[in-house]
Amino acid sequence: MNEVISFQGVNFSYGKNKVLEDITFSIEKGDFAAIIGPNGGGKTTILKLILGLIHKEHGTLKVFGQDPAKNNLKIGYVPQFSVHDSSFPIEVEQVVMSGLLNSFSFGPFYNKEIKEKVKDALAKLGLSDRAKDRFGSLSGGLKQRTLIARAIVSQPQLLLLDEPVSSVDSSVEKDVFEMLNEFNKTMTIVIVSHDIGFISGFVNKLACVNRTLVMNDAKNVTFNDIDALYKGNKVGINHKCGI
Ligand SMILES: Nc1ncnc2c1ncn2[C@@H]1O[C@H](COP(=O)(O)OP(=O)(O)OP(=O)(O)O)[C@@H](O)[C@H]1O
Ligand SMILES: [Mg+2]
Repeated sequence: MNEVISFQGVNFSYGKNKVLEDITFSIEKGDFAAIIGPNGGGKTTILKLILGLIHKEHGTLKVFGQDPAKNNLKIGYVPQFSVHDSSFPIEVEQVVMSGLLNSFSFGPFYNKEIKEKVKDALAKLGLSDRAKDRFGSLSGGLKQRTLIARAIVSQPQLLLLDEPVSSVDSSVEKDVFEMLNEFNKTMTIVIVSHDIGFISGFVNKLACVNRTLVMNDAKNVTFNDIDALYKGNKVGINHKCGI
């Protein structure tokens, strides 16, 4: 089955605040999709629906052909995160290992397989030398990498990232995207971002979200005018979704 995510006519409200309306799109196996849109537009809400953390009101929503609540073991998630408010008293290695807690509920915690997986994820993110560092003492870029390592350590088929590079400088951002491009060989990726500059070179689908959603094929995206979506805040790319 190639369809990984399918939304058909999905609505969602927080109380009386109608956040998403008639959302319809699909993500197929191997896609590298970006979700863009203004603050409060509903980007994080879409990821939470995919994760089964919140539930749709209307329409049909399937992840790997099932109710999203049943799929969390196949999904890696990098939550939206501010580097300024993180001071976890925990080592990098432990943060990454916490990404395996759900998958190994019946085995001894410190077994060889877990150690190997953590080692492998740290190596993939260039963090092998940082395994014993305190997470809170790392730079913003290394914190982000640690959280990405945590999300991929269980080798998920689907990786969701919510603005993983929002607080790092552009050289780090480029590195992260190059890594994600590598992960995309084995994982379907959906990334939320404000910065479309880097994204456009990597993704094959671009969803514009501002209560409603318009899905673009990334090939058709042009660098002209995104003012309508961002209400005048230039972000460096333009296209034609018009929401
Ligand atoms: N837990 C919540 N309870 C009530 N309202 C919420 C909650 N989470 C989000 N909202 C509201 O839902 C709307 C969409 O929020 P969401 O976090 O999905 O936006 P976003 O596109 O991710 O924004 P940002 O770019 O700032 O991260 C906003 O109006 C927000 O205030
Ligand atoms: Mg958000």
